[in-house]
Amino acid sequence: MEAAVAAVDLRKHFPRKQVGGNILVRRLRRYVKHRRTKEVQTGASPAPAADGQTKTAGTIEDSAAGDDVILAVDGVSFEVNPGEVFGFLGPNGAGKTTTIRMLATLLEPTSGHAYICGYDVTKQSREVRRRLGVVLAGDRSLYWKLSGRENLEFFATLYHVPRRQIKGRVDELLERTQLADRADELVERYSTGMRQRLSLARALLADPPVLLLDEPTLGLDPQAARNLRALVLELKQEGRAILLTTHYMEEADFLSDRIAIIDHGKIIALDTPSGLKSRLTSDRVFRLEVAGLHGNIDCLVERVPELNIVELRQDEEAETTQLTFTMMDGQTNTAALWQAVAAAGLMVLNYTVKAPTLEDVFIALTGRGLRD
Ligand SMILES: Nc1ncnc2c1ncn2[C@@H]1O[C@H](COP(=O)(O)OP(=O)(O)O)[C@@H](O)[C@H]1O
Ligand SMILES: [Mg+2]
Repeated sequence: MEAAVAAVDLRKHFPRKQVGGNILVRRLRRYVKHRRTKEVQTGASPAPAADGQTKTAGTIEDSAAGDDVILAVDGVSFEVNPGEVFGFLGPNGAGKTTTIRMLATLLEPTSGHAYICGYDVTKQSREVRRRLGVVLAGDRSLYWKLSGRENLEFFATLYHVPRRQIKGRVDELLERTQLADRADELVERYSTGMRQRLSLARALLADPPVLLLDEPTLGLDPQAARNLRALVLELKQEGRAILLTTHYMEEADFLSDRIAIIDHGKIIALDTPSGLKSRLTSDRVFRLEVAGLHGNIDCLVERVPELNIVELRQDEEAETTQLTFTMMDGQTNTAALWQAVAAAGLMVLNYTVKAPTLEDVFIALTGRGLRD
């Protein structure tokens, strides 16, 4: 089976903008770059690589690039299959939107390849666009001075929906996105949630096999978000491939068949939600809150070697320390834990045991919370 979306070592650099144009800083950078280049040129001549190019050439470029560019997407590879929701989960600035924009042919990759239903996004953009429905976060491309229905009719013409099918298709989509009763109002009077649903309706006009949804529930009230998630599952049932970005753990967990956790432009884990959670060394996550900012935590770790710290957080104001950890064979080691707590003279304020969440996985992988 051919993947509906395939990304192969996809990369995107943006030039770093010189806000305010600090001339001194720029000169210094140019000078450092110049020196580095010179050092390499005068250094020992490197052994030529198999393809005849020298490895050092790449190194100069990379180190120089480091100063002047933002690595928004740093070599991501993944596939999304028909009938699958693939979640792209990561904090703000991780590179989710940039990846979506490259797949949607809106942004040219710096390097790497991407295919939609086997068509190359850079070389066959027309074929690609024909198979794509795209909803971008905060999209302003709807016409606010037209009604919802007029917007859909206009875009249906633009997307070459056969004239005779337009009315039926628009009615059906207005119904599906629960906009039918407000269809003839101007979009400027719509709420954020309604505009978001109208964008999704527009993305579905040409009945595309692949959907790219960038933070589709951002800014929606809980009820609207729930409805939208239900619709996403329906669209998946119809066999569409859906790539969805989100920075909500619960959303990724609920919707996705597989999740790629992305941070600083790189995929740091890719698995099913349960596969990701099982990467934690135990099926239970413990959280212990003790009084004091230092509390004899080291002593605890020494005495309970099975204890694996996921996160250590100190609340300076309340003067408490919160320790999140997993334990190999949690049940039997709990006794050792309490002995160690008693020996260290820690005053326990709170203690919880719960099933791991994706948030725990993210913290375990990156050492920080998703909303940091
Ligand atoms: N047009 C652009 N010019 C310069 N930097 C950009 C541009 N678009 C995004 N970036 C930077 O690339 C990184 C990734 O951004 P983005 O893909 O929007 O992340 P996300 O959608 O995961 O929040 C961020 O550091 C962002 O500031
Ligand atoms: Mg984004």
